[in-house]
Parts: sequence; C-alpha cells; structure tokens
Amino acid sequence: MSFPSNRPATWFVTGTSRGLGIELVTQLLQRGDHVAATTRSTERLLSALDGRVDTSRLLPLTVDLRDEAAVEQAVHQTVERFGGLDVVVNNAGYGFLAAVEETSAAEVRDMLDVQVVGVWNVLRATLPLLREQKSGHIVNVSSVLGLTAVPGWGLYCAGKFALEGLSEALATEVAEFGVEVTIVEPGYFRTSFLTRDSLALPTRATDAYPGIREMTENHLKLQGAQLGDPVKGAAAIIDEVVRGEGPLRLLLGSDAHAYATAKVDALRANLDATAETAPTTDHATV
Ligand SMILES: NC(=O)c1ccc[n+]([C@@H]2O[C@H](COP(=O)([O-])OP(=O)(O)OC[C@H]3O[C@@H](n4cnc5c(N)ncnc54)[C@H](OP(=O)(O)O)[C@@H]3O)[C@@H](O)[C@H]2O)c1
Repeated sequence: MSFPSNRPATWFVTGTSRGLGIELVTQLLQRGDHVAATTRSTERLLSALDGRVDTSRLLPLTVDLRDEAAVEQAVHQTVERFGGLDVVVNNAGYGFLAAVEETSAAEVRDMLDVQVVGVWNVLRATLPLLREQKSGHIVNVSSVLGLTAVPGWGLYCAGKFALEGLSEALATEVAEFGVEVTIVEPGYFRTSFLTRDSLALPTRATDAYPGIREMTENHLKLQGAQLGDPVKGAAAIIDEVVRGEGPLRLLLGSDAHAYATAKVDALRANLDATAETAPTTDHATV
C-alpha cells in the first residue's frame, strides 16, 4: 500500500481546466491533499475553481506537455513546493473524429505529441523520484477506445492504444519499486470532450465517408446527454488510488464495460479461429 495515510498526499495532474481534470483537482483539494495541476491556461483553471474550493494547497502550472524541459521544470516546482510527490495522473487528451485516410500527418503528430510524447515526458520526469522513494502511483487516463476501435476514431484509438501498451509495460517494470500503475478506461462522460472546445475535426474531409460526417454531427449533439458523471468518475479514480493494489484497468461506465466485454469476446473468437494455424509457422523441434 503506497498511498500515504499519515499526511496529505501530493498529486500531479495534467489537463485540469475542464472535465475530469477539474473534478479531480476539486475533490483532491476538498480531501486536503496537495495538487500540482498542469494546464494550458491557469486563468481558465482558476476561474473554474473560483468559489468552489480552498485553493491554498494548489500549485497551478502552465505547461506545454510536449515540451520536455517545461515538464521537468513543473515537476521540480511541485517537489519544491510540497516536498515530494505521490501520485501522477496523466489526464490531458482530446478527441479527433475522421476517417483514417482523411487524417493528415500533422494531425497524427499533434495527437501523438499530446497522448504519447507528453505522457512519456511526465513519466521520465517523475519515475526516478517514485522509484527511489519506493512508492507512488501512476494513473494514465486512456479510454475504452484504448481497448477497442470504432470507425471515425482511428487516430484517437491509435493514441490511446499506444498509451495502453506503454502503461502495461510500465506496470510490470515498476512493480518491484513499489510503484503502481492504473489505466483508466472511461466510456462517454459528460465533460467538454464532445464540444468543439475539445473535439478536433480533420482539416481536409472527403465526401467518401458520409457515415463519419453523420457520426460527427450525432456526437456533437450527444453533448450533455452522455451517461458518465465526471464527479463520480473522479471520485472512482481517487478511491482506486487511495485503496491501492487494484486491477491494472479501471473501466468507468456501464457503456465502457459493455464495449470492453464485446472486444474480449471477439478476441477470444479470433484466437480460437487461429489456434490451429498459429503453431504451423514454428520451426520443427530438434
Ligand atoms: N469524456 C469522455 O467521454 C471520455 C471518454 C474516454 C476517455 N476520455 C479521456 O479522459 C481524459 C479527460 O478528458 P475529459 O473528458 O475531461 O475532456 P475535456 O473536458 O475536454 O478535458 C480535457 C482536458 O485535457 C486537456 N487537453 C485537451 N486538449 C489538449 C491538448 N491539445 N494539449 C494538452 N492538453 C489538452 C485540457 O486541459 P487544459 O485545457 O487545461 O490544458 C482539458 O482540461 C482525456 O484523456 C480523454 O481522452 C474522455
């Protein structure tokens, strides 16, 4: 059990001015924990928190997560202000809705810069600390679309699948140092995720995919009607970290659980269908 019980814990959370991030920051401050909150706009973060909670244990940090030196500086400031670090939440992310062939190289790079390179920058800056103190918890906010892919979400899924792969490897690498890893896989949550503030669209859409244009319209209309409650989502993440020693994946939402179950069933059927073929490519045993 690595979560401190005799003092406030220190959390480093990314992507905090909206959605799950702002809920996490609010609830952590209400618990009495210390929070270093990174955002692209501390002004937006502070105005979202204004009047909601005591911010004396908050360190708001303007950070471009793609900038390794800026991330290192933010972690340094966190340790200087709070005297250590216990939990890292890689939460920042955004959606992108387009067909694979409509997605430009620049759009691919932008997504992977935030969802993979940015997370990796945070991990490189924080892991030595957690490893040396032999305790800590890394929470990587993925998606159920990090487990299963659907049309129109190819780039987003590519980023989240990458995040899942690195998180799975990381979990086994750092377990011996007392560091836990949790991958959070939400379904649809009622945050800003499906608004034009967050959801990116391709600069060059074609007319070959009317189904994806329709899906985009439907997703924008879904705003405000998503099943998941971010207040409960943030609380579930905090509970999981405080309790410790949970499963690697934390699915949030009955929609997420159903999608993931369908993926596991399809994967099982696929494995069964290739069970005879797979061993036929082995070298003959000598
Ligand atoms: N809501 C859903 O339906 C859903 C479902 C599955 C997974 N998720 C994942 O949950 C996490 C939180 O999303 P949310 O639902 O809370 O959405 P949100 O309300 O749009 O908030 C996303 C946060 O990510 C940060 N962010 C967005 N674009 C960014 C960029 N280009 N560079 C750096 N930071 C960026 C923003 O931080 P700042 O503006 O403060 O910098 C923002 O606070 C994301 O990783 C998302 O992929 C959400």
